[in-house]
Formats: sequence, structure tokens, C-alpha cells
Amino acid sequence: MLIAYFLFLISLATCFKVDPLPAVQHITWYNDTVIEINTNLLIADCPSPVVQLAFIRAISTIEKLMWSPYPHSISDYATGPMIESSRVTIQVDDADADLQLGVDESYNLTITPKNITIHAATTWGALHSLTTLQQLVVYSQDGRFLIPLSVEIVDKPNFPHRGVMIDSARNFLTVKSILDQIDIMALVKMNSLHWHLVDTQSWPLALESYPEMIQDAYSPEEVYSKSDIKYVIDYARSRGVRIIPEIDMPGHARAGWRKVDPSIVECADAFWTDAAVEPPPGQLNITSNRTYEVITNLYNELSELFIDNYFHVGNDELQVKCFPQLELQNSTVVQLLSHYLDEALPIFFNIPERKLIMWDDILLSTVSVPKLPPNITLQVWHEPTGIKNLTSRGYDVIVSLYDFLYLDCGYAGFVTNDPRYAESDGNIEFNNGQAGSWCGPYKSYQRIYVFDILANLTESEQKHVLGAEAPLWSEQVDSTVITSKIWPRVAALAESLWSGNKDAKGNHRTYEFTKRIFNFREYIVKMGYDASPLAPKYCIMNPHACDLFKIPPDF
Ligand SMILES: *[C@@H]1O[C@H](CO)[C@@H](O)[C@H](O)[C@H]1NC(C)=O
Ligand SMILES: *[C@@H]1O[C@H](CO)[C@@H](O)[C@H](O)[C@H]1NC(C)=O
Ligand SMILES: *[C@@H]1O[C@H](CO)[C@@H](O)[C@H](O)[C@H]1NC(C)=O
Ligand SMILES: *[C@@H]1O[C@H](CO)[C@@H](O)[C@H](O)[C@H]1NC(C)=O
Ligand SMILES: *[C@@H]1O[C@H](CO)[C@@H](O)[C@H](O)[C@H]1NC(C)=O
Ligand SMILES: *[C@@H]1O[C@H](CO)[C@@H](O)[C@H](O)[C@H]1NC(C)=O
Ligand SMILES: *[C@@H]1O[C@H](CO)[C@@H](O)[C@H](O)[C@H]1NC(C)=O
Ligand SMILES: *[C@@H]1O[C@H](CO)[C@@H](O)[C@H](O)[C@H]1NC(C)=O
Ligand SMILES: *[C@@H]1O[C@H](CO)[C@@H](O)[C@H](O)[C@H]1NC(C)=O
Repeated sequence: MLIAYFLFLISLATCFKVDPLPAVQHITWYNDTVIEINTNLLIADCPSPVVQLAFIRAISTIEKLMWSPYPHSISDYATGPMIESSRVTIQVDDADADLQLGVDESYNLTITPKNITIHAATTWGALHSLTTLQQLVVYSQDGRFLIPLSVEIVDKPNFPHRGVMIDSARNFLTVKSILDQIDIMALVKMNSLHWHLVDTQSWPLALESYPEMIQDAYSPEEVYSKSDIKYVIDYARSRGVRIIPEIDMPGHARAGWRKVDPSIVECADAFWTDAAVEPPPGQLNITSNRTYEVITNLYNELSELFIDNYFHVGNDELQVKCFPQLELQNSTVVQLLSHYLDEALPIFFNIPERKLIMWDDILLSTVSVPKLPPNITLQVWHEPTGIKNLTSRGYDVIVSLYDFLYLDCGYAGFVTNDPRYAESDGNIEFNNGQAGSWCGPYKSYQRIYVFDILANLTESEQKHVLGAEAPLWSEQVDSTVITSKIWPRVAALAESLWSGNKDAKGNHRTYEFTKRIFNFREYIVKMGYDASPLAPKYCIMNPHACDLFKIPPDF
């Protein structure tokens, strides 16, 4: 009796507030008791095979990881009976809803002494409920799997587009390394992988329309077959992640295209500094009819392969110095770009339901047009003011400001034989500054977390912000480092887009988030991913011992 009373006191005293990432929108803790579950949990009346497989993945991760978050001690999780029913009820309102931008991803998750019940709007919401569930389970030092008792979670995302961009052209990314990113994205409820497939350097995409294009892959092994692509799309879909392809046009075009017909690529043989922002130069020949014939065949074939309603058609960094002098004598750059759009947009829109994404350059750079069809979404990467500019004009935007979200910054430059690294008076500013990183310093998880993508926008402008994406350009990235460059940093963006980065008082909730992201990093490392350390392990084991201020200011 006395022992029972003692255990009861421990259960009261131990605040078992597990902390899934991203933080859920609403969680009600009816009391602080934990309950034991066995890992033979089953789904009662499984709504679909996708949910069934996700459930099996969640349970096997729980079993394999035997996870317990920091800080912990033996006595922390020392009590709790066994949950009554091993059947988890998962109810899905609309099991047929397709995975497209804006699909309802909400779910509710309830844990009582009797059972675990999940109610989701769609299959995609049900998948999110399971990544929450798996992060709620803790392995106790005495060998039991425990979950907080009497909890009710009501959850949904703040933004419909929560993404990462990868680049398989500057360096090849193996299919395996891409699947790894999808796994971790799913875990943090990110739902969009923007795949910058090709660029001037290489064309790794094997297509039937123009098989000769992969002569510009880095090697016959560094190629994606159509079945590779299908595999990635299906794999991502079964984890609630959309794949948005990008074929960058008419700039950033050389590899592959020139194998079809050298006359559809301009300035391909110039030295790069005379014609481009990085080696090698090249952009599509805007005045050639052959260019549009090739675009048509490529685009139609890719449109059968990629099932997302959105397709990214690039349009960034068009270089005036790459246009032939003759053309520039006869027309302005704007006329040339307008001609490109007149020819290319009907090709793109010829696919039913097709929506396009373009980089903001098309409306906000020196080589731009005054307006576009209003149903084109812009990916804003230049200046913060671009977000307001475009949303105020009625365009939907995806936010990817380089100064906050570019993951490739801060690694100095990649161009070779650069004399500026030598120590000399003239080079001091260079070497004490960004040392060749074109986009400034490394964007840390803290900078990413406190970035507010809706800053300074009116309510009607805010409605045009679909979400955000963190791009990782791959000049200095391949499969060996991709995971460590993205993770765990991007989990900060994942949370900010899912449930926000501020507390009820309007302050950034970094104080609690730090513990969450530290633990999340340990969690994915234990799963086998090479995620970067963020701090000495001491800081993880001793929350707030490494804070900058003893009493942190509001910010
Ligand atoms: C916590 O809730 C459960 C179920 O509602 C109940 O059985 C248990 O007694 C409660 N524990 C405490 C400490 O209130
Ligand atoms: C789960 O438990 C609740 C009470 O906590 C009960 O109302 C419900 O019927 C149970 N569901 C199943 C499938 O057993
Ligand atoms: C979750 O619960 C909330 C509050 O009760 C409700 O408004 C919402 O419709 C529920 N969502 C789902 C998917 O069941
Ligand atoms: C671009 O196309 C025009 C029109 O067909 C052609 O005259 C020109 O030579 C082409 N440019 C290149 C670099 O081949
Ligand atoms: C290109 O197509 C346009 C319109 O279809 C046509 O007027 C023009 O003659 C064609 N030019 C060439 C070089 O084929
Ligand atoms: C530019 O104008 C000249 C003279 O009118 C003409 O011969 C030439 O074909 C034009 N070039 C282009 C690319 O339109
Ligand atoms: C987008 O606008 C273009 C041009 O007005 C139109 O052709 C296309 O059908 C529209 N697409 C969608 C999906 O509404
Ligand atoms: C919002 O306005 C502030 C103050 O004018 C400015 O410093 C900041 O860059 C703006 N942020 C965005 C995202 O527009
Ligand atoms: C948007 O930016 C363009 C190009 O810089 C500028 O001409 C235009 O006035 C801006 N519009 C708004 C509404 O800020």
C-alpha cells in the first residue's frame, strides 16, 4: 500500500512532457501519468495500405530505436500500467483525397488508458499522426515502452507548402541519398521536395524523347532512369511528400540540350565570366523554333512522369551577356524574354490542371517582364521586399530568401585558382568576410527558426504565401554530405511552417525549441542518418546551461 502510494507520488512528480518535432498545435495533458504500451500494437480497421505501411514503419522505428530523450534519469519513467487495448483506431474522413498542394493534413490523436485513437481528415493527415505517435514513445531504463497517458492532440499545419530543394546537376545525388531526405522530411511533416534536376553542368535524366541528352550526365552510372524517378515519386507519396520537378529554362541550360542540337544553346563555348554567374555558361536560344520543339517533347514526357499539379520551369538568372549581339541590336531583352514566354507558356499550360512555379527573377530582376498570368506561383529568393511586392500584386509565393534559407551559404567559394585566398593587404576584407560565399554566412538553425515569412504583410498579402522552401544548391554537395548539410537545420523551418515559431505572448519560443531540435538530432542519428551536431553534447544533456543569457530576453 505504501509502495503503491509512493509510486503514485512519483507519477505525479515526473513531468513526462515528451516533445515531438514539429511541436503540435494543441496538446492537452489531462495528467502527468505515463502508460506502458507493448509494440505489438495493431491498427483496427486500417483505412488504406499507405496508412498500414506507415504504421508498421512507425512501430518498427519505436522498437528499433528504444529512444529516450535528454535529459533523463532512471526514475523519470518509472511508473504506469499497460494500455488496455493494443488496437489503434485510425479513422480517415476522405481516404481518396489526392496528395496535392492544400490537401487537408489535419489529424487528432487521443491516448486514454483504454486505447489510442486517431482521427484524420485524409490519408496524409493520418501519416502525420503516426510521426507524432512515434515521437511520443519513450523507452525506459527498466526496458518498457511508455507513452504519456490522457493526452489529446489537435493538429494541423499553418502553411500548405513546407519544403526542401535539392540539386542533382552540380553534383549527382544517388537515389538512396534522396530517399533519406524524404524519410527525414516526413518525420518533421514537410511535404514538398523540389528537385532541381538539371543545369548547365550535367543532365542526369534519361528520357525517351532525347536519349542523347544523358551523354551529358557525369557518367553512365550518374543517371536517373524513368523507373528511378517513378520509384522516388512513389516512395515520397507513400510518406506524404510531393515531388516538384524543375527543369530550369531558358537560363541555366546547356548540358543535355546541346546534345539534341547545338544551335538551341547560346554562349555555350564562352569563358564563364564573360557570359554566366558560374561555370559553364549557356541558355536556350530564344529565337530558334527548334528550341520550342525540344521543350514541347521534353515537357510532355516529363508531365507523364511527374504527377504533381505543380511544375517548376526555372526562369532565373537570365544573362544579358549571353544573348547574341545581333539579337540585342534588333530587340530589347524584355522583348526577347516576352517572346520566350509567348512560345513556352502555351506549351506548359497545355497540360490540364498544370500550375507553374518560377523564380522571382522573371518579375523582379533586370531581365524581367512587367507581368505574368496570375496563376503562376513565384519562388522568392532575392530580397525580403519581393514577398510584399509579389503578394500585393496577387501572385502566390513560396518563400526561399537566400539570406535566411539557402543552405549552401557559408562554405567559401568553389571557383578554382582564386588568388584572393592568399594573405595580403588587398585580400583582408575578402578573407575576413564571406571568403567567396556569394550568399553570406552559414544560415544556422537559430536564424532559420526566428525568420518570420509573413513579416510586414497585410492580411490579404499573407493569404498568398503558400509556405517556404530551404534550397540546397549542390556546387559543394553530393550524396556524401547532403544529409549533414540539411539536417537537423531544416527541422527549424519545418516547425516554423507547421505550428509557428512563437509562443502565446508573441515571443520566439526558442527556449523550448532548443531542447526539441537537440533531441531530434539525436533521434535521427540513432535512426542512422548523418545529421550534424549543433552543440557540445553537454548542452543537450544540460538544458539551458549553454544559453547566451541566464535570463533570456524576449525577442
Ligand atoms: C490520470 O488519468 C488516468 C485516466 O484518466 C487516471 O486513471 C489516473 O488516476 C490519473 N492519474 C492522476 C495522477 O491523476
Ligand atoms: C477507445 O476508448 C474510448 C474511451 O476512452 C471509447 O469511447 C472508445 O470506444 C474506444 N475505442 C475502441 C475502438 O475501443
Ligand atoms: C479535431 O478536433 C477538433 C476540435 O475538437 C475539431 O474541430 C476537428 O474537426 C478535429 N479534426 C479531425 C480531423 O478530426
Ligand atoms: C539561334 O537560332 C537562330 C534562329 O534559328 C539562329 O540563327 C542562330 O544561329 C542560333 N544560335 C546558335 C548559337 O546556334
Ligand atoms: C518559326 O515559327 C514561326 C511561327 O510558327 C514561323 O513564322 C517562322 O517562319 C518559323 N521560323 C523558322 C526559322 O522556321
Ligand atoms: C536583325 O535585323 C537585321 C536587319 O534588319 C536582320 O537582317 C536580322 O535577321 C535580324 N536578326 C534577328 C536575330 O532577328
Ligand atoms: C493559368 O492561366 C493560363 C493563362 O491564362 C491558362 O491558360 C491556364 O489554363 C491556367 N491554368 C490553370 C490551372 O488554371
Ligand atoms: C520587415 O520590415 C522591417 C523593417 O522595415 C525590415 O527590416 C525587414 O527586412 C522586413 N522583412 C521582410 C521579410 O520584409
Ligand atoms: C515591385 O517591384 C518592381 C520591380 O522592382 C517595381 O517596379 C514595382 O513598383 C514594385 N511593385 C510593388 C507593388 O512594390
